[in-house]
Amino acid sequence: MARPDIVLWGGTGQAKVLRELIGDDFALQAVFDNSPTVAPPFADIPLIRGWNGFLEWHAAREPRPCHFLVAIGGDRGKVRVEIQAQLERAGLLAAVAVHRTAFVARNARLGPGSQILAQAAVCVEAEVGTACIVNTSASVDHECWLGHGVHVAPGAHLAGEVQVGDFSMIGAGATVLPRIRIGRHCVVGAGAVVTRDLPDGAVAYGNPARIVRYASEPPATPA
Ligand SMILES: CC(C)(COP(=O)(O)OP(=O)(O)OC[C@H]1O[C@@H](n2cnc3c(N)ncnc32)[C@H](O)[C@@H]1OP(=O)(O)O)[C@@H](O)C(=O)NCCC(=O)NCCS
Repeated sequence: MARPDIVLWGGTGQAKVLRELIGDDFALQAVFDNSPTVAPPFADIPLIRGWNGFLEWHAAREPRPCHFLVAIGGDRGKVRVEIQAQLERAGLLAAVAVHRTAFVARNARLGPGSQILAQAAVCVEAEVGTACIVNTSASVDHECWLGHGVHVAPGAHLAGEVQVGDFSMIGAGATVLPRIRIGRHCVVGAGAVVTRDLPDGAVAYGNPARIVRYASEPPATPA
């Protein structure tokens, strides 16, 4: 049976990670990126620049289903969600990507566009929103709730019943204690141990994590 088509939006390291992840499950057709300078990540797949480039590619293509993943990591979860919505409006289908070595509990829920990378774990009754990344060797324990565009970076661990608001990033190797609530647009620094709830927009690091500033984008709700 023919493999379904897929495209990636974003041509940097996350594109390489996702191509390895999807393996032979999909046939990669193209990579898109808004940057005029990013180098093509793959020798055998075209890199097409900008939304107009996408529209031309889409118009020239035979009308058959095409999936996509947004390959943009770091703390750019809002951009990931926005591009996902734009591609869905154009008629493409958000894939859900789970690496063959990841564990996802049978009753965990993964939102469209989410990416569960190698050796990651999403445990029982966890809920993962749209376009989230649970990165290499990260864990999202029982009954955690992740909003949209959340990134749990490599080796970060969320204990049970943790909540993370939209567009927040939990940095590499950070630990979040049970039942902690992290707001929207937060950044938890690499290696932090989060022992208290964080309000919207907080940037925090250290053990125990302390708020060092608020993100430049104003929080959606008062902190
Ligand atoms: C927390 C963070 C956002 C702070 O970024 P920043 O505000 O640009 O901080 P700076 O790099 O200017 O560093 C400011 C100070 O904080 C310290 N610092 C920065 N991050 C720290 C961290 N995670 N833990 C402890 N100290 C940290 C720096 O050493 C520096 O200290 P100094 O003033 O004594 O020299 C960032 O350092 C971080 O940890 N990001 C997470 C990255 C990550 O995990 N990405 C995953 C990609 S897959």
